[in-house]
Amino acid sequence: MSNTKKLFIKTYGCQMNVYDSERMVDAMGADGYTTVDSPEQADMILLNTCHIREKAAEKIYSELGRYRPLKDANPDLKIGVAGCVAQAEGEEIMIRQPMVDLVVGPQAYHRLPKMAEKAGNGVQVLDTEFPEEDKFEFLPRGTKARRAPAAFLTVQEGCDKFCAFCVVPYTRGAEVSRAPERLMAEARDLVERGVVEISLLGQNVNAYLADDWTLPRLIRELAKIDGLERIRYMTSHPNDMADDLIAVHGEVEKLMPYLHLPVQSGSDKVLKAMNRKHTAADYLKVLERMRVVRPDIMLSGDFIVGFPGEDEADFQATMDLCEEVRYGQAYSFKYSPRPGTPAADRAHVEESVKTERLHRLQALLTSHQVEFQNSMIGRTLPVLVEKLGRETGQVIGKSPYLHATHFLGDPSDIGKVVNVKVVATERNSLSAEKI
Ligand code: SAH
Ligand code: SF4
Ligand code: F3S
Repeated sequence: MSNTKKLFIKTYGCQMNVYDSERMVDAMGADGYTTVDSPEQADMILLNTCHIREKAAEKIYSELGRYRPLKDANPDLKIGVAGCVAQAEGEEIMIRQPMVDLVVGPQAYHRLPKMAEKAGNGVQVLDTEFPEEDKFEFLPRGTKARRAPAAFLTVQEGCDKFCAFCVVPYTRGAEVSRAPERLMAEARDLVERGVVEISLLGQNVNAYLADDWTLPRLIRELAKIDGLERIRYMTSHPNDMADDLIAVHGEVEKLMPYLHLPVQSGSDKVLKAMNRKHTAADYLKVLERMRVVRPDIMLSGDFIVGFPGEDEADFQATMDLCEEVRYGQAYSFKYSPRPGTPAADRAHVEESVKTERLHRLQALLTSHQVEFQNSMIGRTLPVLVEKLGRETGQVIGKSPYLHATHFLGDPSDIGKVVNVKVVATERNSLSAEKI
């Protein structure tokens, strides 16, 4: 019998949570925990949660309910809730689910091992503070193990924008940018461990500013690292698309031709009510300038339908904007009122209307997505190979546009950028041949 403890961690929400979960595994690893794939095997279960929409938050409580029998069978089992639900609901979680032993907010992860030690057997521990220090600075570095070819790197956290629908400024706090020298060191370390592509993450990643380092400067410096082949960044706000950031797209070849730039609505009236502080025309202007420096760029966006006050003409303006932009990829959601946000108390659009608008918008967005994917047929694309496929001899990777792409290759292709010719498209992937 080994006496290492076993950690099961489940991640919800955005890529920043994925990055955070990896860091928590590092921190707990230094404390003698190894990860397992099922909650049944675990000494500790940690849910890294998302609060962005009501459904996301409610999922956590039903998931916790499922652990009841495990806790009954093993009273030493520790159950923790991390992430944005932890920050937003804090102690409420322990009241609703008394079997939860610890609640840790997104800015306090470096304190997790100490908390885990104290918690359990009737002792509940909570930390949802926003300490001054960089939480990642205090987390022990992982071992020098090999990493998968594509990695996330959080460069900026929090948000000062306060869109009227959004919980992020409350769950993640004010905008904070990490020190550039730390990021450069972390990027070099990742590359030494086999990473070929780095996605820079932040709730408003293009607002990155540390000393006199901006996001484009960080991208230029990262591009100098030998062995790092691809750079991406997400998510950006239209008001922070500075001239220099647009320019860097035409300059740095390693920067992939993909821009995720959410607009939420095509109606100026709704944008104003959302507190987005830009018009549909401002947004389109940014895209137009981007397409001048990088004509092959693929655009991706986020949309909310049924925001309080949205009428049919406003919704039509969103449809028109989508027709004009023709996104290669897009995410759309029904407005979900979030407690504590300004829009939560406004008069809401009827649920059936939201549902119907969402269907119409998604049909349009899907048709554009399919059109973009089909335009890849016959093209030669560089694919970063990430893993073996399900079929013998097959490998899977990502195109510059983030399409999953599979072709007959060799296990030694993993971690390399290989040129392939696209022969067919499937629902959510491309089928290709090595050339
Ligand atoms: N920082 C990013 C987005 C963070 S949340 C940005 O500003 O673009 C990711 C997406 O979730 C948002 O772009 C929005 O489309 C959606 N979203 C956020 N709050 C929501 C809510 N209350 N209801 C429905 N969708 C929401
Ligand atoms: Fe939320 Fe708006 Fe900030 Fe994005 S910019 S995280 S949508 S408040
Ligand atoms: Fe969700 Fe928090 Fe990310 S609310 S989307 S996990 S920042």
